[in-house]
This record gives sequence, structure tokens and C-alpha cells, in this order.
Amino acid sequence: MLRYGDMTKSPKMRFSSILCAWCLLILLAAASSIAQSAQVFRLDGNNSTYAFGVNERGELQPLYWGGRLGPHDSIPAAHSSREMASFDSPYTTTPQEYASWGAGLFTEPALKLTFADGNRDLVLHFVRATPNGSQAIEVLLKDISREIYVTLRYSIDPDSGILARSASIENREKQSVLIEQAAAAQWTLPPARYTLSYLTGRWAGEWTLNQEQIQGGARVIESRRGTTGHQANPWFAISRDAGQNPAAPAIADEEHGEVWFGALAWSGSWRITVEHTQLDAVRVTGGFNPFDFGYKLKPGEHLETPVFYGGYSDHGLGGASRLLHRFEIAHILPQAPDPKPRPVIYNSWEATEFKVDEAGQVALAEKAASIGVDRFVMDDGWFGQRQNDHAGLGDWYVNPDKFPHGLKPLIDKVHALGMDFGLWVEPEMVNPDSDLYRKHPDWVLNFPGRPRSESRNQLVLNLARPDVRDYIAGFLDKLLTENDIAFLKWDYNRNWSEPGWDQVPVDEQKRVYVEFIRNLYAILADLRKRHPKVEIESCSGGGGRVDLGILGYTDEVWPSDNTDPFDRLSMQEGFTYAYTPQIMMAWVTDSPHWYNHRSTSLTYRMLSSMQGSLGIGANLNHWTAEDFATAKRLIAAYHSVQRTIVRGDLYRIITSRDGSQMSATETVSNDKNQAVVFAFANATTEGRGFPLLQLQGLNPDAEYKLTWIEGKSWPGTPESASGAWWMRHGLQLDLRGDFQAASFHLDRQR
Ligand code: DGJ
Repeated sequence: MLRYGDMTKSPKMRFSSILCAWCLLILLAAASSIAQSAQVFRLDGNNSTYAFGVNERGELQPLYWGGRLGPHDSIPAAHSSREMASFDSPYTTTPQEYASWGAGLFTEPALKLTFADGNRDLVLHFVRATPNGSQAIEVLLKDISREIYVTLRYSIDPDSGILARSASIENREKQSVLIEQAAAAQWTLPPARYTLSYLTGRWAGEWTLNQEQIQGGARVIESRRGTTGHQANPWFAISRDAGQNPAAPAIADEEHGEVWFGALAWSGSWRITVEHTQLDAVRVTGGFNPFDFGYKLKPGEHLETPVFYGGYSDHGLGGASRLLHRFEIAHILPQAPDPKPRPVIYNSWEATEFKVDEAGQVALAEKAASIGVDRFVMDDGWFGQRQNDHAGLGDWYVNPDKFPHGLKPLIDKVHALGMDFGLWVEPEMVNPDSDLYRKHPDWVLNFPGRPRSESRNQLVLNLARPDVRDYIAGFLDKLLTENDIAFLKWDYNRNWSEPGWDQVPVDEQKRVYVEFIRNLYAILADLRKRHPKVEIESCSGGGGRVDLGILGYTDEVWPSDNTDPFDRLSMQEGFTYAYTPQIMMAWVTDSPHWYNHRSTSLTYRMLSSMQGSLGIGANLNHWTAEDFATAKRLIAAYHSVQRTIVRGDLYRIITSRDGSQMSATETVSNDKNQAVVFAFANATTEGRGFPLLQLQGLNPDAEYKLTWIEGKSWPGTPESASGAWWMRHGLQLDLRGDFQAASFHLDRQR
């Protein structure tokens, strides 16, 4: 039914205009005494310049990545290193754009393979460079003797300076080769002392920002789980440390200093290796995880890697994340470059869990509509024999006991209440207790004759199989054709085990790591084409599948199953280092919270969630009249400033990391006409007040009027003042106690 398209043939970059800010120059650099001539390729975008060239041995070598150079500056040609010692071949000490394993390479390779005759030596040399329009360039490399060709693709976004890089590996040999390692790209930084930032976590505890000085050796962040994973996210940022004093503390600055960052667009097993070589070079290699990898590439076939995006900011981690946010909005999301702000949703999961039925959902929908919710989403439990998580996954028919007349009466009611309707699905999974599994036990990932490990009583369907792919695409298409559904929450509640695929020859079985994800993307792309109005959320037991690959097909993500409003402050902060608040769904749920048993006010919970794309997940049947009034007022306030919150420039003014006692964020609209601030006092001690709030990103000469959403300022705070006043003088909040929150917006008057 679906044809496997070449989903990542070219980096997913949709540049709306060709701006003179961007140019691609191919300079033929003057010959040096060593080389007769050398080619240098340069890309400029926003505030950054990226350059690489061909050295005298024919290798493609990085030359520069950093702040933008002058338009007429020349970039010295590439020269390979000399042998430093007999233990370090020049091949290993010369940085390469895409190093293949061979010729004495000891650093991390981008590409490693085995030929049919046992040869494992691969040495890639430059063949030609082809500018593709004025925005991109393709560089062809070839092994020094064998018919292995690698096309490196580069394109740059003029507005953010973010580069998209990927590789296509082609086998023109007469026999198959086995690719054991294939990166999307390698990045090289100028020699300096650096701090690495990366995100780790676990179920219900995602998005922890880790920071450490880059030392000799390698730091590997990865997923071996067949999916992106909660445990690490495919994003990194590397900040240049202030000063060169080795004893100086390595603290990455939020708003100052140089930062290089990157994010991998892949939703399968991935790996990013940050290497500090023996010669103090810092390189980052990222792509398919080589662990258990083995892609048999037949004659005439090519393997497309994911895209590895990379960018540069000289405004610290804050500047780096603002560039990424803008880039994701403009180029990654399915509705780019102008995705709709997310509707305020109601989701039934925490209220009802699996106990959904028509009357219960209608009762919740009526209450949700009364507070201004835009979209009503029914979660797990509506299909098959699904009473709990032991049965039903895979049987995507409406449960006749719970919904005797199908979904239509509920959907009609939701529409009559002025909301649209969304539904939960988990297409890639099956419970052994299901009709689907009884009929097709061979459809799951497994090694025949070996146990099939269950998690949450479920197994993973092998999406690499065309029949499984067609089944999933087919039931989803039918569901969306037969019902007026505006939104799917696409869940994925376990990782892989026993990743066998015994229907194909043994030496092709490991292609599952690639084909599964390609088919997932193909199903999503096909669904969006057939049902263009349907929006999709990527959920994986919370934030287990958030990456720039899945975000090409989904409009929003569920960052965590942990909806505790205090925990969410630090998780949301971590999330925003890599991803825009536009996609960050945040529900207000019940208090005391089921996970931490923490009690918080509805106002605190609302303000915590209003920092992203707001949702309500509480059991509305237990709310008081006062709760409904509070939520209604705050949802209306949220609607009025939502665009600034989710599309503006985010400043993490006071960090919420490590359970911080106080925290604050500010978002400034792109035109600087509005700023929205959220402040949280989580535990004040010894009578200390909230720190002075000095805002950022405003126009210093413009006049801004203060409007409170919640809270109040000290006596004497002006109702209106210049951007300079709000940023330099700052304002004092009257905020103290435990789990107190305040919010206001500033609107430009003139
Ligand atoms: C995990 C999700 O993260 C939850 O929000 C909920 O949808 C459950 N799955 C349903 O099984």
C-alpha cells in the first residue's frame, strides 16, 4: 500500500526566500608552497560561517566553524597534518569532514564497512563539489580504489545559520558490502577548553541538563533502544569556557559566550560521540548507533543517513536555544513556517485511565468546554478488549460495551460543545492477549525459539515488515476516514528487546534498525497527506520519542508522564534547551499529585503549564466552582498571550534546575512588542524575597505597560516604563511562601 519513499534524500530544509545574507562561495585558494591548489568551500548564514576544503592528499577537511567572517576574508587552504609521532598517523591527526575507517584512523570514524572479500580498509577522497542552487552544496567522495561513493550534503538556513548535514553511501561494487557504522556528520570545533551540555533522564524524569568540562577521551550519549529514548536526547551544546586558565571554573554561561550545538533527526537507535583527541581537537560524530548495526548494502543500493543539524551562537546557551526554536518552527515542524499555536486540550487519561465510556467522556467534555478548552482528547481504553494494559493493543475497533453506537455520538457532542476531537492510539504495539497477536504471532520483533520479553504486557510489532506497515497504515486511514478526528495522540510505551526479523536472510536482518523507522516516517507522511487536517502528537510514555526526525511529522510532543507542576519547571527548562515551547504540551492535573504526593494550588499548576502549550488533565468531576472560575480566567489569559509564549524568544532568567527555590522565564515576541513572564517561589527561606527581576530582550527605547495575569509588584513599581527600566532597574515581585507563582505581561505602548 505504501511505497517506501526516499524520506531523507535531502535535508528537510524549506527556505522560503533566498536572502543575500546567505551566500555560498567556492573559492579557489592561492596555491601554497605545499599544495599546487586547494579548494575551499564556505557557507554563511545569520551570524555564522562554516568552511571546509580539500587537502593535498585529497581528503575533505574542516577549516572553520564559528562567528561570521567578513565577506572578503580568505580562508587558508586545507593542509593535512604531518606525522607527529610514529603512534599517530597523519590520517588520524588530520581532522576530516567524514572520516572513514582505514589507513590508520584511531579517532571516531564516520563510516566503517566490510567488503565481500574481507577488506575493511576504506579511504575516502574528494571527487567533486556541486552547489545545489544557492543554498546548498553536495560533495562527492570516493574510496581510493573501490567503488564506494559517499555524497555529503550541506545546506544552511540564512536566518539562523543552522546547517543541515547528511550523507548518502552508495555501493557501486559488484558485490554487497556490510556497513557497520554510518554517521550523518562529524563536526570539528576550534581548539579550546569547552563545557559540554546534554540532556538525560528516565521515565517520568526526563530533560535533566548535564554539564561537564570536556576532557581527554570520549563522552558517548546514545540510545540502543530502537527509539530515541527517555534516557538521553540526541542534542548537544558545547560552550567555550571563559579564559584559558585550566583552573578556571567551567561554567557555561546562559547568555554570554560562544556555543556550538547540534541535534540529530532520527527516532531510532542513535549515538553522538564527543571526542577530545590526544591533540586537543574536539569533534562530534553523530548518526545511526553502531551498536548491533549492520546494514547490508547491495550493489546499486545506497543508504541515506539521518540529518544532523548544527549551529553556532555567541549569546550563550540561551542564544543557541532561541536559534533552534526559531529554526524548528520555520523549517522542521509539519506546519512550518507558521504552525498554528496548539489548541488548549483536555485529556482524560489521569481522570479515568482505562475506564472510558460515552457518558463519562461526555460529562468531562461538558466541563472542559465550560472553561474554554479547544480540543477534547480521549486517551487509552476505547478499543478492543482494553480494560487495562493486559489486553487489546492491536485490535483497533471501537469497544462495543463502552461505545455501543461507535465514537460518533461522543464526537458529535464534543463538536456541539465547540471543541474538536482527538484520540489516543499506540499503533506499533500489540498485547499477546489480542486478536491481532493470535492471528499474527510472527509480526512482532523476536528471535524464533527465544523468549519474547514483554514490557507493560506488550510486544513491538516489526514495522520493517511491509505487511505490518500496511496493516498499521490501513487501520489508521480507516479510523480517520470513518470518524471526524482532528488529532491523534500517537503513543509508544516500550523499547525494543530481541530485535529479530527472521523473514529476511540472516545478513539483512539488522536492517531493521533503519527500515522500521523509515516505515514509521512513511506511515506518518502518508497519513498527513491523506488527512491533511489531522494533527499528531508524539508520545512515548512521556518524552521517549522527541527528536528532530519525528518532529518533521508531528505537531507536538508529550514531554513527560510526570505532570507534577514543580518537577515540570525543571523538566520544561531542560526541554527548552533543545526544543521550542510550541511543541511542549503541559497539562494541569490533580493535587496532591499522584507521583510526588505534593499539594499545590490550581493557580501554581496553571502557571507552570502555561509556560508551554497548555492542557488540562485533571478530573474535572472533582473541581469546585472556584476551580472552574480560576481555570476559565487563566485559560482566557493564556489564549491572549499564547503566541508570545510559544513563538517568542525565551529567556531563562532564573534557572529552575536542581529543584531551585525560585525560578523565572520570560518570552519576548519576535517584534519585541510583548513579553510574558512567569515566576515561581517554590520555597522561600529566612524571609528572603524574590530576586530582583531584570528582564531581557526588550527594546530599551520603547515604552511597555505592565499587566498582571496573577500576582502583584511592590508598591512604587510603575504601571508603564521603558524597556531600559524593565531590563536595568528591574522589578520586585511580592512573591513568598511555598509553591507560589506569579505572571504578567508587558505590552509596548509606543
Ligand atoms: C503513556 C502516556 O504517556 C500517557 O499520557 C497515557 O496516554 C498512557 N500511556 C496511556 O496508556
